[in-house]
Amino acid sequence: MWSAPPPQRFTCTGSSGPGIVGLTDSEDATAFKQFEAAGWSRQAYSYEQLTGRVTAAAAGALLDAARVGPGLRVLDVACGSGHVAAAAAARGAEPVGIDISRGMLDAARHAHPDLAFVHGDAEALNFADGSFGAVVGGFVLNHVPQPERAASEAFRVLAADGCAAFSVWDRPERARLMGIMSDAIDRAGLDRSVGVPPGPDGFRFADEGAFTSLLEDAGLGQVRIDTFDLSVRVEDGDELWNGLLGGTVRAAAAVLAASEEDRRRVRKAFDELAAGYETEAGGLALPAVVKIGSGVAP
Ligand SMILES: C[S@@+](CC[C@H](N)C(=O)[O-])C[C@H]1O[C@@H](n2cnc3c(N)ncnc32)[C@H](O)[C@@H]1O
Repeated sequence: MWSAPPPQRFTCTGSSGPGIVGLTDSEDATAFKQFEAAGWSRQAYSYEQLTGRVTAAAAGALLDAARVGPGLRVLDVACGSGHVAAAAAARGAEPVGIDISRGMLDAARHAHPDLAFVHGDAEALNFADGSFGAVVGGFVLNHVPQPERAASEAFRVLAADGCAAFSVWDRPERARLMGIMSDAIDRAGLDRSVGVPPGPDGFRFADEGAFTSLLEDAGLGQVRIDTFDLSVRVEDGDELWNGLLGGTVRAAAAVLAASEEDRRRVRKAFDELAAGYETEAGGLALPAVVKIGSGVAP
């Protein structure tokens, strides 16, 4: 179902490195953005099979946090396949979705032909200051090289008294939907520099202090962080494995760039871990804890 990208070993050109807080070197940042845009375009039509299904379940809480209601002009940053924008429209708001991945925009327009989706970068929004009553960003802060820029840009385009809200995964120990593949990769001893460029720490804003500082430093007031417990139910390990390979970028790239033998070892470790989530009723149930940080423009 997925075509493996040719194995490529990425090296850091600047001060940044694997597991780093943010990418300070512009070559690294550019390479990471290109990797994300291409990776999400490949996943655009498989995203909703699992990951998008789960992120859609968090859309209502994200819109509530940004106080999205009828008549409000809303920017959906990193809109992906468009379900947050669609949920905003269902509330009577006027959403505009932006995303860096042309494949995702294609999927969003296909699924929601009446809504507006435009190409753009969360770190350099092509909109005037104060032009939105609310800004939402579902699971984007872990995908941009410099999240401070994305938060500042959200603040800049927000009108006075407007709200911004971002969702992120909690730590992988609690967001097991994301943690399980990562743990399997580690158990199998896969070299993550093959197939995956240096990128930002995917769980940096699971730390409430870091999340609060990000939003306050961007200029937002009344900042709060709320936690939501989601549960992901799947039929079996195959559905989980295929869903994650079709609904993530960094984890999928690491697995797909591995040799057949290494991939088999990851799958074995994955199945062992997945067995811990079997339910008595059959199938698997994994926790996927989400944090939503929000604030108001003064
Ligand atoms: C995990 S998906 C989240 C999609 C959607 N917001 C949701 O809640 O399901 C991450 C999205 O971020 C987008 N993205 C990554 N880097 C971006 C950037 N610099 N600017 C805009 N979008 C970006 C990807 O293309 C992808 O659609």
